[in-house]
Amino acid sequence: MKTSTMKRSYLSETAKKLKPSGIRKFFDLASQMEGVISLGVGEPDFVTPWHVCEASLDSLERGYTGYTSNAGLLELRTEIVKYLQGKFNLTYDAEDEVIVTVGASQAIDVALRAILDSGDEVLVVEPCFVAYSASVSLAGGVPVAVPTSAESEFKLLPEQLEQKITEKTKAIILCFPNNPTGTTMSEQELDNVADIVKKHDLLVLTDEIYAELSYNEEHVSIARFNGMKERTIYISGFSKAFAMTGWRLGYAAGPAEIIQAMLKIHQYTIMCAPTMAQYGALEALKTGMDDVNEMVKSYRQRRNFLVKSFQEIGLDCHLPGGAFYVFPSIKKTGLTSEQFAERLLHEEKVAVVPGNVFGEGGEGHIRCSYATSLSELQEAMNRIGRFTRKYAV
Ligand SMILES: Cc1ncc(COP(=O)(O)O)c(C=O)c1O
Repeated sequence: MKTSTMKRSYLSETAKKLKPSGIRKFFDLASQMEGVISLGVGEPDFVTPWHVCEASLDSLERGYTGYTSNAGLLELRTEIVKYLQGKFNLTYDAEDEVIVTVGASQAIDVALRAILDSGDEVLVVEPCFVAYSASVSLAGGVPVAVPTSAESEFKLLPEQLEQKITEKTKAIILCFPNNPTGTTMSEQELDNVADIVKKHDLLVLTDEIYAELSYNEEHVSIARFNGMKERTIYISGFSKAFAMTGWRLGYAAGPAEIIQAMLKIHQYTIMCAPTMAQYGALEALKTGMDDVNEMVKSYRQRRNFLVKSFQEIGLDCHLPGGAFYVFPSIKKTGLTSEQFAERLLHEEKVAVVPGNVFGEGGEGHIRCSYATSLSELQEAMNRIGRFTRKYAV
């Protein structure tokens, strides 16, 4: 028998405390079953448009296989700046106010590591993307949940925000259109939030990776309001709108001082984002908007179908303004969100994500992604309808 010579655990306290993502648990379960329709995934069902792939292949043929500059190809940063100006009226300097990252995920991580000292509080508007609180903790900060509720369609209300601000609060993470609720905020609603942010001298990390997937109104960025650009780190990426999840390409734009601090961390850890992916992204920005518009048309149709279907089977579901998720209430079934998701998976083979994994306020809801074909969505809704009838909905 082997005797272990280890006398202690080598894991850090931070790593030990980190909770595994609740989404994974359902994916793992669903992947072991046959015939499951998954409304669980947060990635487009479209493949990356071929001309984008070709541009990347072309870069390989030309021998562009080395590192790029740490901040990313200047040509790509320039194109990002043009895009942000043209689409959202945001003005940045490609030289020192933009950094190309390994997905929006890495932008969130380096941004938090660049701004947080141990014990700094960061407000996290819940329900939200599962990585925010974990990334704050990994950067030494303390995540503080600001719960939103179904009654206000999960919009961030100024009074909810104000209640959670203390003298330790340094920043707030916003995400509109939101994952998991699909909620968007109007210009006036965002302006009200901006006023509080300025009053308390906070920094904003705004994750606008779903900006292109806005179905009702033009997307507005909080970075656009008076006095906000200097206190906002704008984060986005190519995964969702351009159907490029596997390319791992994102970016951040913001005040030079912060972006340059992020660059230091990035250059010691990642060096640069993948070169061939950067060439693909360049092509996507230059000539890919027609593809995005086609995908958005399809998502809008699927969103309308899903919301109508949930309402028809008797579950409350608000019409989300963006992203590719609906977040219906399952309270009428009397089940918790975990019970609902587990039983639905076992009894009807439909995978959805329980709302509680996205934080307080998510309980009583499920997240259903409509980044799945309309015919699959139709079949999934037949099954969900059959399932909820058992619970007398
Ligand atoms: C709100 C939000 N931000 C960031 C990401 C990660 O994006 P990326 O693939 O660019 O790292 C996701 C992925 O689901 C997301 O939903």
